[in-house]
Amino acid sequence: MKHSPFPLNVFGGPDAVKDFLNPDCNPPLPLVEIPRRLNPFARDGIRIFAKLMNFLPLANVKSLPAYNMLLEKEGGAGGLGGIHSLIENSSGNTVFSLAVIGRLFGIPQTKAIVSHEVTWGKLQMLRFFGTEIMVNEEPICPDPGDKESGIYKAKQIGKERGWFNPGQYDNEANPRAHERWTGPQIWEQTEGKITVFCAGLGTTGTMVGTGGYLKGKSSKIIRVGVARQPNNPVPGVRTPNLLREIAFDWKQATDHLEDVGTKESFEKSLELCRGGIVAGPSAGFALQGLLQFLSKQKEQDKLDSMKNEDGEVVAVFICPDSPFPYIDEYFEYLDASHFPNIEHEELLINKSGEKKKSKHENKTTRTEFEVDPLDAYALAYPVSPKEAWVQLKDRGGVAPRKGISIIDVRPYNEFIHFHLPGSERMDSHDITDNLSKLSKKWKDRKVFLVCAMGIRTRVVAEFLREKGVEAYSIKGGAAEWSALNLPRWRPNICNVQDKDRGGSV
Ligand SMILES: Cc1ncc(COP(=O)(O)O)c(C=O)c1O
Repeated sequence: MKHSPFPLNVFGGPDAVKDFLNPDCNPPLPLVEIPRRLNPFARDGIRIFAKLMNFLPLANVKSLPAYNMLLEKEGGAGGLGGIHSLIENSSGNTVFSLAVIGRLFGIPQTKAIVSHEVTWGKLQMLRFFGTEIMVNEEPICPDPGDKESGIYKAKQIGKERGWFNPGQYDNEANPRAHERWTGPQIWEQTEGKITVFCAGLGTTGTMVGTGGYLKGKSSKIIRVGVARQPNNPVPGVRTPNLLREIAFDWKQATDHLEDVGTKESFEKSLELCRGGIVAGPSAGFALQGLLQFLSKQKEQDKLDSMKNEDGEVVAVFICPDSPFPYIDEYFEYLDASHFPNIEHEELLINKSGEKKKSKHENKTTRTEFEVDPLDAYALAYPVSPKEAWVQLKDRGGVAPRKGISIIDVRPYNEFIHFHLPGSERMDSHDITDNLSKLSKKWKDRKVFLVCAMGIRTRVVAEFLREKGVEAYSIKGGAAEWSALNLPRWRPNICNVQDKDRGGSV
């Protein structure tokens, strides 16, 4: 591992920012042991360390391969001369990192090909960093081999004059970034005593690069890869099914595979954050995967065999990014018992200018007005989801059952990406401002309310209920409906059933 030429972390001169983003010019990223209270195996001689990739200047793990893909291209045949634009299939950390780093390499424009199901928040983040956006009709975790996928399209555009497609899914410079920086850092920081390495699997670059490096140093090291359970949105990682589509030889680089769900990931991340290790949902995801693995080893009496010469297991897990872009999601996936109450909540005026809440209505958490998307589907539509997809394709629509209204309160630009068949768009404040009129209109109907994540509609459902309307908020909102692959109408595009989906990288 190279040692930083800037030991006091001061970067000056014309290349100051480029140096600042260059991992060779920075100290190793922190490796922090988690508190004993968060480590159920502390008494078994197991030490668990968090590798904080969110301490990179761009605050995310993907900025390392983004940097290296440009660095290797610059140093390779053809270099970066004449390239004015980057194009990448990503709606997450990779592409905004490319946009920022690209400018420092003299490339003014970066374009992201994003899934049409990307959240509005993510799109805004990309635009915040000046990334151009092209929407493509595809699941969030596309199949790289599919010719309609953004990955394929980015490759084609990348061949045009002046364009370069770094291609995180099969560019060896992705895992090589971790082989060059993450692996050696961890090896030196643990003084070669690491025995278990654990990382979430997205493109698998982190695991292939870091895991490969560490295994080369000591064949005893066990590499634990963590995949997402189906229908469990955690940003950046794939399900075992979706991992099959990845070009890197991640199987060879993974000794054990664990799969982890949404709630545990967000819960573990919250515990880490409150304990002083501020790391996002996919850090909680990796930690949970590691704990599951250790627990199995303990059950099988294998912990002792994993110990190093000091009689310890030294386990390191990757923290890919910070919790801040996902704060709403913590409140979405974790129930109220995880969070402090708000005193005098009734005095708050919520964002859309809706009424103050009465003292007895402290109901911003899950309520009986909420309904799971699958239950909502069964109540609202007369045909099976499979049949509904066929009807959407053949007839261009599916009518809800009699007496059902489906109201979508998301902004128009999200509604036109996709919406529930037969749903109607309305602003939430138009509902709360016209409660008397609407309660008459909806008196004998069941009203299902949809928003992005199922948070805003809880409040709207409460207001309607007070007026005697049988209103329901769909849990998890449009995001969960889509994650469950329930039928969706997408204006102007063919309605084809997708495969599994998940967070983007
Ligand atoms: C936010 C985020 N991005 C990306 C990844 C995946 O990294 P890689 O693409 O190297 O597998 C993860 C893994 O946990 C992640 O949490």
